[in-house]
Amino acid sequence: MKLPDIKILDEANKILREKSKEVVFPLSKEDKKNIQDMITYLKMSQIPEYEEKYKLRAGMGLAYVQIGILKRIFVIVEELEDETFKEYIIINPKIVSHSEEMIYVGEGEGCLSVNRDVEGIVPRYARITIEAQDIDGNSFKIRVREDIAIAFQHEIDHLNGILFVDRIDAKNPFKDAKKYREI
Ligand code: NI
Repeated sequence: MKLPDIKILDEANKILREKSKEVVFPLSKEDKKNIQDMITYLKMSQIPEYEEKYKLRAGMGLAYVQIGILKRIFVIVEELEDETFKEYIIINPKIVSHSEEMIYVGEGEGCLSVNRDVEGIVPRYARITIEAQDIDGNSFKIRVREDIAIAFQHEIDHLNGILFVDRIDAKNPFKDAKKYREI
């Protein structure tokens, strides 16, 4: 695999605080290539050999704004077993329902745009159902849970200009820990 030539913006870049715009179909060739590049990048970041060779940080998701384009698109790459992956390409997502139950990642969330360790709790719904469009503009519904549900909410936040660090109480990063389930 060849490492795609994409540049992931750091949190210092103000564009990451902007709201992305609805995508109009059909997608351009360039958009389709960028989406594929983002997926390849995430996959390679999860394969130890490439992670080491290219000094990558392992990542599960990327929003389009992280490569500097304000369109409501994100991708998630989930490792199922050893080097087999499930890919999600999500365009114009809307959360249509969610669980009452909230969860958080015990070891903290990470983000390829946040290049520092940040401790603290980010409460997320344990399960969500979203409506979105695929790469051809077809609408679909998907229900996700647990770590994938967290990844989806993290990426949807990016589309609204929110980073996970914004959701952590700076004075009391572990506030209300007992109210939510740790995963
Ligand atoms: Ni992120």
